[in-house]
Amino acid sequence: MKIAVTGANSSVGRNLLGHVTEEGDISVIAGVRSESAAASLPVSPKITARIISYDDVGELAKAMEGASCTVHLAGILIESRASTYENANVAATAAVVEASQRAGVQHIVLISVLGANPGSRNRFLRSKGEAERIVADSGISSTILRTPILLGPGTAGADALVGLATRRRARLLGGGRNKMRPLDVDDLSRAILHICETPLEGASIHELVGPESIAYRDLLTRVAGLLGCSLSIGTIPLWMAKSGAAITSRLRGGGISPTVIDVITRDEAVQLNADTELGISLTPLSVTLEKILTEKAQAI
Ligand SMILES: NC(=O)c1ccc[n+]([C@@H]2O[C@H](COP(=O)([O-])OP(=O)(O)OC[C@H]3O[C@@H](n4cnc5c(N)ncnc54)[C@H](OP(=O)(O)O)[C@@H]3O)[C@@H](O)[C@H]2O)c1
Repeated sequence: MKIAVTGANSSVGRNLLGHVTEEGDISVIAGVRSESAAASLPVSPKITARIISYDDVGELAKAMEGASCTVHLAGILIESRASTYENANVAATAAVVEASQRAGVQHIVLISVLGANPGSRNRFLRSKGEAERIVADSGISSTILRTPILLGPGTAGADALVGLATRRRARLLGGGRNKMRPLDVDDLSRAILHICETPLEGASIHELVGPESIAYRDLLTRVAGLLGCSLSIGTIPLWMAKSGAAITSRLRGGGISPTVIDVITRDEAVQLNADTELGISLTPLSVTLEKILTEKAQAI
């Protein structure tokens, strides 16, 4: 079986390709936007890197030929002058859907985010909701996975945690009191491959979160403890962070904005976790943290 993965050089993409090289009978067309991104992919006879552009649907469709499933990972939380929510989250999804239709792909998997909603007042959540709608209305059967913060070696979430935990003092947005349900990125990759192998009919949306609910400040304290670091946690009031971010993000044309702050300080909660339905058993948070710290220790 062959699948096409967009944003294959993303942290989720590289993890997914790692799983593909180790298990099962799946080969991958790994779509990336540059030679340097292609060079960052795992090397395996099961993986064929293709340089793609989301502005050229015809070429995108050609790249996807032979794939039965598209896994659409390309997407951003933090905007830059070149990558906006409109082009990276919405227009790229529209291009991928049209290319999948032309290439005769039978199923699309979209990685979305908890709280995605085309009617949201938050620009990021709105763009992810619009992407969901484009996929769900495509006429191709689809599975949308709404996920929380992802943790595991190579994720931005893990890098931020370890970076903060190794300081003597960290000041957290709103004191880090927001509750999270971190999902191990290996669990997400397993769920994606399970869906590709046994796709459901029609369009469905699932929320997939990790097994433990924990406040960010407690998660950070736990990581600091595992590293043997003593950390004092202070607070940056949200109003202050957002007014600073409003100015800097406007000047820079991107970066941390009030929109991003609202997303990363929300409580992550779900009605029904899709782990059982998606055929995965969730990795305990303690095991995820061990994996992150082992990888960091090996990198030193
Ligand atoms: N990481 C998390 O905690 C988390 C949580 C919930 C949902 N997700 C979702 O999971 C997916 C993967 O996330 P990630 O954190 O692994 O991503 P990532 O490492 O930040 O990589 C982002 C990917 O998006 C591509 N991209 C950036 N701007 C683009 C544009 N204008 N047009 C098309 N592609 C563009 C990047 O390509 P270049 O390298 O060429 O720029 C890269 O492949 C995303 O859709 C994200 O929203 C992630």
